[in-house]
Amino acid sequence: MNRTPRTTSRRQFLASSAAAIGFPTIVPSSVFGQNAPSNRITMAIFGWGMMGPSNTNKFLQEADCQIVAACDIDKNHLKSAVDTVNGAYKNQDCKAYHDFREVMARKDIDAVMLAVPDNWHAIVAIAAAKSGKDIYGEKPLARTIREQQAIVKAVQDNNRIWQTGSWQRSEDNFRIGAEIVRNGLIGKLNRVEVGLPAGHNDFAKTGDKTQITPPPAELDYEVWIGPAAMEPYIEARVHKNWRWNYNIGGGQLLDWIGHHCDIAHWGMDCDRSGPTEVKPIQVDMPARTDVWNTATKYRTEALYAGDIIMTIAGGHDDIRMGTKWIGTEGTIYVNRNGAYDSSNPELKQIIQKREGDKVVEAAKAPKLGDDIIKTRLYETKGHHRNFLDCVKSRQPTVTPVETAHHSAIPGHLSLISLMLNRSIKWDPTKEEIIGDEEATKMLGREYRAPWKLEA
Ligand SMILES: NC(=O)c1ccc[n+]([C@@H]2O[C@H](COP(=O)([O-])OP(=O)(O)OC[C@H]3O[C@@H](n4cnc5c(N)ncnc54)[C@H](O)[C@@H]3O)[C@@H](O)[C@H]2O)c1
Repeated sequence: MNRTPRTTSRRQFLASSAAAIGFPTIVPSSVFGQNAPSNRITMAIFGWGMMGPSNTNKFLQEADCQIVAACDIDKNHLKSAVDTVNGAYKNQDCKAYHDFREVMARKDIDAVMLAVPDNWHAIVAIAAAKSGKDIYGEKPLARTIREQQAIVKAVQDNNRIWQTGSWQRSEDNFRIGAEIVRNGLIGKLNRVEVGLPAGHNDFAKTGDKTQITPPPAELDYEVWIGPAAMEPYIEARVHKNWRWNYNIGGGQLLDWIGHHCDIAHWGMDCDRSGPTEVKPIQVDMPARTDVWNTATKYRTEALYAGDIIMTIAGGHDDIRMGTKWIGTEGTIYVNRNGAYDSSNPELKQIIQKREGDKVVEAAKAPKLGDDIIKTRLYETKGHHRNFLDCVKSRQPTVTPVETAHHSAIPGHLSLISLMLNRSIKWDPTKEEIIGDEEATKMLGREYRAPWKLEA
């Protein structure tokens, strides 16, 4: 495989020429003046819906990064993106784009932040990699495993830095929980529970707008559908709520697999491997013709080497939202908002701050010494900060593209097994389904012309 970068970015050029004359790889700001333009990572942002503004806000706070371009195919969203960025910098330097390819053609842009719906992940990410940009890309890595494989290839072939929006890896409780498991402190791992949400969440408050109508003038609906199958415009399945229809998204299962399975894999040391079989256990699946047709309740079991069984479930009371590892000598549970628990008193700090009868702060993850934790996991100073640091150092981020790929695979295989209502055997090395042609076809999807999946 060709690992030579196809293009040299402005930042790589600065880094390599600095190294050649004996400077450290990161050009010190004193060379250019504090945060001079030439010492900043120039960035373009794609997609100004739910996650785009959140990521952008983080990058706007970093002085060594400058957002110089914004791209969206909804004119209102695009205006809001450009106004927000230029308002933050108090200048007019961030330019507006409708066509992502025009942004990729700009040689003065080092990095991109991608927060477009899942149907677009692969094409935009591959274009970014091929044009020599480093990429902060959202989870799940893509809408299908074939697309994920193509993104991984493009990122590797073009030596790009990749950070996935699986930001839980930059939070202390998730890292310490995974570290405790990785260091064998709950014994041999037997079971892992990955608890995800159920139902549909009306993020855009358009759940009652289920009629076919002409698309609004501000939206380029033809491009919005992109490589997916053309379907009539229905407001309830476009902005934000696209994830509840299988034409564009993958329901709660694929929306969340890149978070809690990502953490599960971290503790299991499975960032480069995966299950050997995925079994369907239960699913409540609306009719395929429903506007929101993704599974509302679901459960699968993924079998891993070492006889480890992972339960992936949404809407099942016995599987709590978050990640739980169960070993021969105890359990660890982690979730958002710092949630952390263990069956072993010595593996938690019990704080129990109370307001009256109510516990307002419960157990916390303990900071264990190097005598106990022999294998430390990657610790960042913030997920977005980690991306910028790695763009400069050319070292892997905490969630490189291969990790994102493997974190999402159990979700994709679960969905295939639920749809076919049969077990799927998977070769985690060859990354192929074994002995099932129909399921193998579901590893990819047809692309609507003129779009093509080309790594
Ligand atoms: N990391 C997290 O915690 C987290 C949270 C929410 C969403 N996400 C991910 O972020 C991504 C975006 O989700 P969202 O909820 O923000 O979606 P959204 O629908 O709210 O926003 C997507 C935006 O992308 C634009 N867009 C669509 N196609 C485009 C194209 N070809 N070029 C330019 N712009 C295009 C849309 O017009 C819209 O403004 C998804 O992959 C989702 O899974 C991650």
